[in-house]
Amino acid sequence: MAVLVTGGAGYIGTHTCVELLNEGYDVIVVDNFSNSKPEALNRVYQITGKKIKIYSIDLLDEKKLQQVFIENQINAVIHCAGLKAVGESSIIPLEYYRNNIISTVNLCEAMRKYEVKKLVFSSSATVYGTIEDIPIHEKMPLGAVNPYGRSKLMMEEILRDLTNSDEKWSIAVLRYFNPVGAHQSGLIGEDPTGIPNNLMPYISQVAIRKIQQLHVYGNDYPTKDGTGVRDYLHVVDLAKGHLKALESIQSTSGMEVFNLGTGKGYSVMEVVKTFEIVSGRTIPYTYVEPRPGDIAICYANPKKAQEKLNWIATKDLHIMCEDTWRWQFNNPCGYEETNKNKVNYI
Ligand code: WQD
Repeated sequence: MAVLVTGGAGYIGTHTCVELLNEGYDVIVVDNFSNSKPEALNRVYQITGKKIKIYSIDLLDEKKLQQVFIENQINAVIHCAGLKAVGESSIIPLEYYRNNIISTVNLCEAMRKYEVKKLVFSSSATVYGTIEDIPIHEKMPLGAVNPYGRSKLMMEEILRDLTNSDEKWSIAVLRYFNPVGAHQSGLIGEDPTGIPNNLMPYISQVAIRKIQQLHVYGNDYPTKDGTGVRDYLHVVDLAKGHLKALESIQSTSGMEVFNLGTGKGYSVMEVVKTFEIVSGRTIPYTYVEPRPGDIAICYANPKKAQEKLNWIATKDLHIMCEDTWRWQFNNPCGYEETNKNKVNYI
């Protein structure tokens, strides 16, 4: 029986595939490579020595998607595919709703048709509304403030309706806080298209002098040093959380939501200083106006995942920066450099 990973060539997807393969699962990947590179899957093979069955298709293509279920014995699905840039989602909301929501409905229809009713869904802490209380637990009020977050919220509601309609469904919804870092091999990592939106890849590109300086969005927040505080989570810890969720849905029914975070917040300047120590590079920065929509402090209460999934984040900020730096230093242009536009072991 195999596990199907949608978006398996992406940042979270590749790291999840590595952990699945190392655990002995057979893995099938569906990816349209719109925001990822086939080379990433060659690296997964390099790390694990195990092959993945790859379908280069779009989840919006119902016929081709159903063919994946016809051709394979699938036990469960880990659904990572989706557009995820908060800023971009306000510019092209229809693409976000169509791509993220319709794809998910197509996937669930194919799963239902072929009696595959175990799903791990990639959600996000962006589904939480204006945060009144810190740390954030799963029962806090929801209310996304951008089309990306709203698409995640709508998908959570769709999945809840699905489990309410048929008790055979078992769904784990994972609300990611801030995934950062890379596999310790330095072979896979975050490979943003264009100028990075998120802090860690931006800092690492400043460190390799691809970008001149970091703009720190605001330095008079009510935090230890005035800069924004977030719950950064090592992507390998996050990937292992998917395997714990996969195990849990084998024996449960219905839908459960879990925060995946460390429960610890780090400020922008703490990340900058740690990165400088790890890389030996100075990170030039300048304070600028806060980014619209940003909040001061956001970190998880990860108790539910610890208790129900027996999952806990183990890697600290130092390791997150170390692993990020190794990936970035070895791959200054991400996967682009190898310029391979195909998976070369199929
Ligand atoms: C972190 C901190 C910024 C960039 C995002 C999105 C979403 C989600 C997680 C998927 C904040 C500051 C950032 C920069 C800065 N992913 N910053 N200069 O906004 O917490 O969450 O990532 O669901 O993509 O919700 O992450 O990395 O953008 O910002 O000062 O150039 O770094 O103000 O305090 P964020 P981020």
